[in-house]
Amino acid sequence: MKRADLDWGNIGFGFKQTDYNIRYAYKDGKWDKGVLSTDQFIPLHMAATSLHYGQEAFEGLKAYEQKDGSVAVFRDVENARRLKRTCEKIFMPVVPEAMFMEAIDRVVDANRKFIPPYGTGATLYIRPLVIGTGAKVGVSPSDEYLFIVFVTPVGPYFKSGFKPLTLIVEEEFDRASPGGVGDIKVGGNYAAGLRATFKAKSKGYADVLYLDARQKKYLDESGPANFFGITKDGQYVTPESPSILPSITNMSLVEIARDMGLNPVRRPIPVDEIFDFVDAGCCGTAAVLTPVKSITYRDRDAVYCKDDTPGEYSTKLYKKLLSIQLGEEVDPYGWVRKISLTDPIEG
Ligand code: PLP
Ligand code: COI
Repeated sequence: MKRADLDWGNIGFGFKQTDYNIRYAYKDGKWDKGVLSTDQFIPLHMAATSLHYGQEAFEGLKAYEQKDGSVAVFRDVENARRLKRTCEKIFMPVVPEAMFMEAIDRVVDANRKFIPPYGTGATLYIRPLVIGTGAKVGVSPSDEYLFIVFVTPVGPYFKSGFKPLTLIVEEEFDRASPGGVGDIKVGGNYAAGLRATFKAKSKGYADVLYLDARQKKYLDESGPANFFGITKDGQYVTPESPSILPSITNMSLVEIARDMGLNPVRRPIPVDEIFDFVDAGCCGTAAVLTPVKSITYRDRDAVYCKDDTPGEYSTKLYKKLLSIQLGEEVDPYGWVRKISLTDPIEG
């Protein structure tokens, strides 16, 4: 199949229409077999629980054209597991792992002409979502659901790409609280974060760095990504908190860091420690690893890059992660799962 003619090197992180999405409906206690659809719209009852009571969950992962021309996804089983935890927590039916992975295989293959070519920096972003579709007026879970997966080619989430970005701690806003739903991927967390991100961006920062909502003493995460710092003695430290999303990218970097001898640790990180780090980064599927140039906290800046050169540790970690995702080096962890395509992509 001939590849779509897009300006692959200059794609931003936005929605680009592709040919198909896949939809599975849940009714009478079971999921159906799923259909590929060309429709970009969903017929939805105005009283659907997703619209009123936030029964909505999503995931984000990527398919990569690898160096040898094959196509692979990165740790999709972990996205399936996280979606399971999310669904359980907001009383939605679980999407079985096998169904989740089958949906990815089918929708990636159906849209194979939109998989960006190796070497362009673009990837195929995969966005699974589950929504309550049943009508309810009282607060209770729906009886009916839809699991949809769409794909869209993307470039870097932060405009800078692999260039250091600036963060600010906006203490007046919280994204999530302990005991709430900050540790699962529901849309409401992002709505809660809009004000803080908007404020940070209006001041010229790329995004916010949240503190724990209870004490405002410890680091949580950034709006769309986890956070890590590198201590003076070369240790990878990343926040342990009940209100952050367990990032699959971060989980992977922790293993890579361990194998690089960076002695990674997850622990509560007092905000003042930002002034002691020698390097720092944001990490996530969309953000990949974006180095942090500086963090503004109250009236001080913690600065990690003197100019726009990414830190030494961020660079090493980024290169290793990306070369596994792109099949440039052997994946010793078993993170990469090949997708078989109906026919080869040309061009
Ligand atoms: N934290 C938040 C709030 C996110 O939205 C994301 C993106 O999914 C992440 C962290 C990173 O998670 P992952 O690496 O699994 O994409
Ligand atoms: C992802 O990294 O996949 C996310 O879901 C982050 C999102 C805010 C774009």
